[in-house]
Amino acid sequence: MPDTLTLDAARPEDLDQAASLLRDGHLVAMPTETVYGLAADASNEQAVRKVFEAKQRPIGHPLIVHVPAPERIRLWVEHLPDNAIRLMEAFWPGPLTLLLPKRRGVSDFITGGNPGVAVRMPAHPATLATMERLGRDLVAPSANPYGRISPTSADHVLAGLAGKIAAVLDGGDCSVGIESTIIDLTGDTPVIARPGQISQSDIEQCLGITLAPGKSASQAVPGSVKRHYQPVTPTVGVATERFADSLQEFAALGGRTGAIWWQTAPGDGASEAIRLGADPKDYARMLYTAMHAMDRANVDRIVIELPPAQSQWLAVLDRLARACTEEND
Ligand code: TXA
Ligand code: MG
Repeated sequence: MPDTLTLDAARPEDLDQAASLLRDGHLVAMPTETVYGLAADASNEQAVRKVFEAKQRPIGHPLIVHVPAPERIRLWVEHLPDNAIRLMEAFWPGPLTLLLPKRRGVSDFITGGNPGVAVRMPAHPATLATMERLGRDLVAPSANPYGRISPTSADHVLAGLAGKIAAVLDGGDCSVGIESTIIDLTGDTPVIARPGQISQSDIEQCLGITLAPGKSASQAVPGSVKRHYQPVTPTVGVATERFADSLQEFAALGGRTGAIWWQTAPGDGASEAIRLGADPKDYARMLYTAMHAMDRANVDRIVIELPPAQSQWLAVLDRLARACTEEND
């Protein structure tokens, strides 16, 4: 495959080119507000197959369908329950994926053979404009090689997939920074299958109900394996109370430590340090960017200061649990 093109999300002619590549069955990485997605024309099975090859993702892991307008969800689902309509009105376009019983004929390649299909309307204007030009919907898993951290910039996409995809549409840094919340509406009561920026209480307020405590994401979402979003460098998560001591212990072992912190400045306890924001949204927005940067910083280990085990940190804790080994693992 020839080199991967970089297209500019601010240039209308580049959006035309992205749409035309997709129409011809090629893969284009596209910005969304959460993370970059690896997009293929959802109506073209050959194109959808290429997504699995490029990511080296096992066949059978389902893909999220991305739509440019709310009403297009009707093409994918059997019927649209009231809860789905309320959630779409409140949160679309935005970082919420709805899992609903699929319409007959929706490809098993997209659903992984599941009776449900996952659909979302992303909030990035360039990606919505490209889909409108294309006139078709897209499948778009995160644009990273299987098992690696999701990309939050065009550079991250190229670091993992250059030469394997036709193009990346550069739309700047992602504003949310972690993957969408997935709400499973296929059962009697809604269940959060993957936590994200849209929280359980946001959903409860919107629907006027109390949700059962979610299963852990790794149990609830087929195709989501624990240890899924890993940097290449060994990565450890450490609670604030232990962070400074832990850095000293690692320093005593020799080698270079990269510290990612939000409360406890590492001082000379680390060779490289990156600070994250101190509230859940800022921490989430900066987390993958920091992990990608540390992965390239030639350190022997990455030590991340964990946030407290409180509900507003749930989405971030879920991603950290997959990226890190426990301190004493
Ligand atoms: O924010 C996001 O959702 C990003 C951006 C690019 O939109 N996409 C994303 O896709 O995170 P991916 O493929 O990395 O994660 C999709 C998750 C997987 O854990 C998958 O198992 C679940 O959604 N999923 C997708 N379709 C499903 C289905 N039909 N049934 C059950 N789970 C499904
Ligand atoms: Mg992913």
